[in-house]
Amino acid sequence: MEENRFLSTGISSSEGQYENRLRPVDFSEYIGQTKVVDNIMVMVQSANIRSQAMDHCLLSGPPGLGKTSLAMLIAQQLGSELHIISGPAIEKKGDLAAILTNLQPRDVLFIDEIHRMHISVEEILYSAMEDYRLDIVIGQGPSARTMQIDVAPFTLIGATTKSGLLSNPLRTRFMGNLHFDYYGPEDLSKIIGLNAKKLDIKIQKEAQDLMAKCARGTPRIANRILRRVRDFALVEGVSEISPQQVSKSLDLMEIDFYGLDRMDRKILQVIKDYYGGGPVGIEALCATLGEDRSTIEDVFEPFLLKEGFLLRTPRGRELSDKGSGHIQS
Ligand SMILES: Nc1ncnc2c1ncn2[C@@H]1O[C@H](COP(=O)(O)OP(=O)(O)O)[C@@H](O)[C@H]1O
Ligand SMILES: [Mg+2]
Repeated sequence: MEENRFLSTGISSSEGQYENRLRPVDFSEYIGQTKVVDNIMVMVQSANIRSQAMDHCLLSGPPGLGKTSLAMLIAQQLGSELHIISGPAIEKKGDLAAILTNLQPRDVLFIDEIHRMHISVEEILYSAMEDYRLDIVIGQGPSARTMQIDVAPFTLIGATTKSGLLSNPLRTRFMGNLHFDYYGPEDLSKIIGLNAKKLDIKIQKEAQDLMAKCARGTPRIANRILRRVRDFALVEGVSEISPQQVSKSLDLMEIDFYGLDRMDRKILQVIKDYYGGGPVGIEALCATLGEDRSTIEDVFEPFLLKEGFLLRTPRGRELSDKGSGHIQS
């Protein structure tokens, strides 16, 4: 496929393969996120009744919560083909124009990390989304002219970890704007149970619940833990996984009882040791950590905020009592 060049998963290829094996095959396997799913169902069903393309929609939320998986199920329910591309990987307008003009009616175009698309490329999308038409400028100066090319009625599904960074013209062209929340332990436990079956792993309910508790509210992390626990059990020659095995694997992965990993704890530690518990501005914090701002803001911080380890104040990030207590222990 032409657009494979632009495919990006953001994860290692072996994890990618493993993840694909564990993707929900239909909506009955898509656990939780009921608000998002209920909205999507109505949009899909309406499109099917009208025999038209589904409305464009934006899926936002931290990584690993099921955005790509949902896009796959949407295309399946529409009986359409899904084309997956990564926003920042498209460098030229022409590349996106080629992808758009090759779409069939009712196809789904999934653009991952859509907030990181180059602005000049993004502009191509405006008329494509609104009027199923491309306005292409050919030539330069006085001889320049605009050419219009029709695009098949298609559905754009954008995924973003930061919906706030989306430009206004792009945001307003999405009919649905759906936000993904972290999963509760019960939903995560169900997902782990389902995936353990797919991988032919026998696991005790308490072990499953312990994993769910430590998975940072994120199915991708639950899958990661499950994989490590499986490896561990294989090496130890254990046929059924117990909570003890899970505990040992979590120790090896340096994941604590709250689901925090080394980086999460390092963030808390740095705020405490270098900035007296805060408040500290995000730029200074990232410089001290030697980490990219978007990684801290998109991947780590949302969970620390949600669980109350960290507070966001007008003057910067501050450690809460819970956060401060956690790193003392
Ligand atoms: N609602 C869900 N139900 C079951 N499994 C899920 C769900 N959401 C995510 N997963 C699991 O987590 C993995 C990662 O999800 P993915 O859709 O790639 O997340 P995102 O695109 O938001 O980063 C999937 O392969 C799947 O195994
Ligand atoms: Mg994804």
